Amino acid sequence: MANEIEEVKQRLDLVDLVGQYVALKKAGANYKATCPFHQEKTASLMVSPEKQIWKCFGCSRGGDHFAFIMEAEHLEFGDALKLLAQKAGVTLQPKTRSEYQTKDRKETLYAINQFSSLVFHKVLLESSSAKTAREYLAKRKISDQMIKTFRLGFASPSVNLKDFLMKRNYTPADIAKAGSPERFRDRIIFPIFDVLGNVVGFTGRALGDIEPKYLNSPETPTYNKGRILYGLNLAKGFIKEHDYVILVEGQMDVISLYQAGIRNVVASSGTAFTESQVTTLSKYTQNFLLAFDNDTAGQTMTRKVIELLLKFDLSSKIIDFGKFKDAGELFENDPKMWREVAKAAKEGLDWWLAGEITTAGNLNFIENKKKVVRAMLPVLKLVAEPTRLDHYIQRLAAAIGVKQESIMASLQKQAGASKTSQPISATEAALTNEEQFLSILIAKPELISKYSERIDSIVYQSEGASRIASELKKLYTNKTLIKNQSGFLSQVKQQVGSPLAESIDSWQFWLSSQWPTFTDELANELIEEKLEQLKTKQYEDSKTQLANNIKTAQTAGDIEKVKAFMEELNSLTKNG
Ligand code: UTP
Ligand code: MN
Repeated sequence: MANEIEEVKQRLDLVDLVGQYVALKKAGANYKATCPFHQEKTASLMVSPEKQIWKCFGCSRGGDHFAFIMEAEHLEFGDALKLLAQKAGVTLQPKTRSEYQTKDRKETLYAINQFSSLVFHKVLLESSSAKTAREYLAKRKISDQMIKTFRLGFASPSVNLKDFLMKRNYTPADIAKAGSPERFRDRIIFPIFDVLGNVVGFTGRALGDIEPKYLNSPETPTYNKGRILYGLNLAKGFIKEHDYVILVEGQMDVISLYQAGIRNVVASSGTAFTESQVTTLSKYTQNFLLAFDNDTAGQTMTRKVIELLLKFDLSSKIIDFGKFKDAGELFENDPKMWREVAKAAKEGLDWWLAGEITTAGNLNFIENKKKVVRAMLPVLKLVAEPTRLDHYIQRLAAAIGVKQESIMASLQKQAGASKTSQPISATEAALTNEEQFLSILIAKPELISKYSERIDSIVYQSEGASRIASELKKLYTNKTLIKNQSGFLSQVKQQVGSPLAESIDSWQFWLSSQWPTFTDELANELIEEKLEQLKTKQYEDSKTQLANNIKTAQTAGDIEKVKAFMEELNSLTKNG
């Protein structure tokens, strides 16, 4: 790793690199420019060709190649390294065995999807067979500029994408692994980019009222629906700049906002927002403006995301679209309304509370006050940060006219009551990596023996998952059972009982909706992929934990502890 970093730096001249972002002027032995990272009129950014470092004397940012790219492209170190390695033509050595195996293949999958996106795009712009598609976008008031920015395309029935791909020597197996982009027919295509701008999948919208309205690529080794955020590659700088992010439901919403000049916006890929997406965004900002659809599904999603945000002590505000169904519709009809609805956005818990008060009815009845408290307690319980909790208790007490003490008492009483376990629900991408890993094993029990050690080495985030994992370990040695998938499934379900059995059913349902034909080869690859992602997450979590420990020990002035944690952190990053 250290060598790769040095290699990248040696191959790329910092003056050239910085020069791609700002206009550098020679100033003695150095170069000067106005700094792109803060507002200024005089040039205070200096680049030293000799030392290969940069420094801004206005905002005091500075450093090496990586520090510059991390600022300029809003990337974390790892992604900045990938980007610069690409520019420098340096091949990064894979860190883990499975990364080693998947590395080359990932490049192929990116290339297949990249090429497909360009074909779709060219067809939309130029082909006579895309006339209705162009008319459709015009009717939806999507400008040519947005078509280019988001590289929208058209999957024309008269263009055989698979032939094009095969002519480029991509194998049918690789095309299938890339998510079979040729599956789209007669749809407007929205390529889905990762944060580095690689095309990882597609969403296709029907031109009329055809079901399904949107069709998505399946998950692939490069496309994890629970992680990708649509629009983040374009939005990341704007999110930092404005210090808040707007979350919407769909591709159309993102593009409508972007077209109106509101560019700090992202969507999940037609699925529920996940913890991992929230964590990703929290690296850019602490403030979330939720602008989901004005319907029951949108409200359910709003509540879910408020819960997630509370858990991480992040701030939320909620937009009410009033007479419009969503952001897309608002911008098609009355773009000026946006300022108004955004200004009127309610703080997350106030929004939730207002909803419960409306549902409960006349608050002169004690029974109705109790209803509101009962509905709000589970939400309040998620608030770990004391100041925030205190604030919310005050709001709730004032809103329904009771003393704060009585709400605190109810909260404490609830905390004492036993936790009832809920079935783990599974909407399309709500499956975590560990759940996907276990689901695949349940679908392919013969694979369990191969992964039996790995099953043990995972630190499961949910108690349910850990329970299921240990059942799998108990059953897999039963040779007749593992040959009979449905028998195995019902045995596992029987062992874990309700509500986990229902979770398993919904996971299997999810799996079959993602992968109608689920081959052994695919199962193996997905498992490797999930294991790699779990390992990375575990590594990141341990790092965060140790960093927190170091901070706490530092505050407490415990030098010995600080040293010990530092050493642990060092050895972790060396071996990781
Ligand atoms: P919506 O139905 O709200 O889409 O679904 P929309 O943006 O309002 O679409 P228009 O304006 O009618 O064209 C929101 C998102 O959910 C996913 C898509 O990603 C969509 O952008 N979705 C929706 C699906 O994946 N499948 C569907 O059948 C519908
Ligand atoms: Mn919508």
